[in-house]
Amino acid sequence: MQPQSHAPIPELFVSYDSAQKLKQEAAGLPSWDLTPRQVCDLELLMNGGFNPLKGFLSEQDYDSVVENMRLADGSLWPMPITLDVSEKFAGSIEEGQDIALRDPEGVILAILSVTDKWAPNKSREAEKVFGADDVAHPAVNYLHNHAGAIYLGGPITGIQQPVHYDYRARRDTPNELRAFFRKMGWQRIVAFQTRNPLHRAHQELTFRAAKEAQANLLIHPIVGMTKPGDIDHFTRVRCYEAVLDKYPASTTNLSLLNLAMRMAGPREAVWHGIIRKNHGCTHFIVGRDHAGPGKNSAGEDFYGPYDAQDLFKAHQEEIGIEMVDFKHMVWVQERAEYMPVNEVPEGATVLNISGTELRRRLQEGLDIPEWFSFPEVVEELRRTKPPRSKQGFTLFLTGLSGSGKSTIANAVMVKLMEMGGRPVTLLDGDLVRKNLSSELGFSKEHRDLNIRRIGYVASEITKNGGIAICAPIAPYTATRRAVREDIEAFGAFIEVHVATSLEECERRDRKGLYKLAREGKIKEFTGISDPYEAPTQAELVLDTEGTDVDYCAQQVILKLESLGLIAA
Ligand code: PPS
Repeated sequence: MQPQSHAPIPELFVSYDSAQKLKQEAAGLPSWDLTPRQVCDLELLMNGGFNPLKGFLSEQDYDSVVENMRLADGSLWPMPITLDVSEKFAGSIEEGQDIALRDPEGVILAILSVTDKWAPNKSREAEKVFGADDVAHPAVNYLHNHAGAIYLGGPITGIQQPVHYDYRARRDTPNELRAFFRKMGWQRIVAFQTRNPLHRAHQELTFRAAKEAQANLLIHPIVGMTKPGDIDHFTRVRCYEAVLDKYPASTTNLSLLNLAMRMAGPREAVWHGIIRKNHGCTHFIVGRDHAGPGKNSAGEDFYGPYDAQDLFKAHQEEIGIEMVDFKHMVWVQERAEYMPVNEVPEGATVLNISGTELRRRLQEGLDIPEWFSFPEVVEELRRTKPPRSKQGFTLFLTGLSGSGKSTIANAVMVKLMEMGGRPVTLLDGDLVRKNLSSELGFSKEHRDLNIRRIGYVASEITKNGGIAICAPIAPYTATRRAVREDIEAFGAFIEVHVATSLEECERRDRKGLYKLAREGKIKEFTGISDPYEAPTQAELVLDTEGTDVDYCAQQVILKLESLGLIAA
């Protein structure tokens, strides 16, 4: 591979003066408020990170990318970069029209000249791009449950970059990085992509990779969107900064990439390679299961462990960046050093701590040895991830009206308050409907909104180290799943199905509502004239028939204890 010239690459921004004028003109255009993922995509479109794209994909380019990993003109491009919008918004837009793209605060970032508008076949996109139409894949889940039904495509006129207040000095556009490499005289650069904190093994492997390629090193972590449940980027950047000091001075640079990952394994690896090439790198480290999404609904891996490396290798000439194999490094006790696993002398004692084991040790407050990580990194992780028994969590009871949710929730709340340590908030169905959701009825739309609101409040409580106990009916699986995702970003989500049968609830009819529902005097009544989708993967199922409240509450407490959420 030739050394990079580091000449600037094309961006989609207009000049400063034109941008000021355009901004005023754009204020009168129909406008679309970008989702967080779209803001990430737009940033990389505008700054050249997604070169050769000139905007959100047209329908023809989209079809070609989905089917063949290429734009309609034949250029390699593995990931559909599309602007998904609601049917309502799409209905108000004509092809040929300009629309303003705004960030969540309403700032106009760009103008999209809409050339195409279409309803994509999302199942086909899932199959072809992500390998399966299975919502256990985070990007497929996003596609079906978050993305709008209609895609808009067309060229972008860039007005301004999205504003970031965090780690500004560490964020670089492709041209800023290229200029840095020019200034430093770096011609061969190995990029290391990561969405995890760096430990000693990573530091060793990246250092070796750079040495072997006779290149400088760019630590290029993702700070846009990563896999749900990952460690937040604030913590990770503090960890990266600590590790940066461990490399020889002026051989290594750290730069943050505001990419929204899709966890698409092989296709994602090729995409990452193109993005790094655009940022001026000549080499890219690809490991086992690069950008892997975890297990599918059948508990199997979505991709083979070396699929990403194979696809990357097959396209590296065309991308113009060379793949560097990610060596699995292990600690060799007798030699007190890291070595690639295939170079370990026979009979030597090899030590390794897996990601799962590390999480367990952090969760339980156990020792993390110095050979594994740097004390500064461990300290940061401990600050962010205290043991589970000190973290916030959400207990989410779901079940039919009259199933006993509120009674059990109240009993559990009192027991938790007796134990003390964390503040406890009860978000009972009836209570929420009196305060937070007083204007809502019982249509599917209103029920979903109600549950999303409860989920939002619970996620804030969980984030801030409290315990949220929610007790709504929450009849829809997809909505419960969405709430689970929001909360699991900050702490545990324990779904408890209060599985009292409809017959029993109706027999008890404590509020007299079932009678009214049977008489048709209450419409859309759950279980009678409205659906209840019973959970299939709840952490706990409570059968209240023939047992008392105390026993049910005790089962919840025991569950929390077994999950490590309450400690002695
Ligand atoms: S939902 O579906 O989760 O938004 O419902 P939720 O907020 O938990 O509210 C349920 C309580 O409202 C009363 N109620 C009804 N429930 C179901 N369907 C209809 N149509 C309805 N109308 C009023 C009922 O008392 C529920 O309280 P619980 O505590 O569940 O018995």
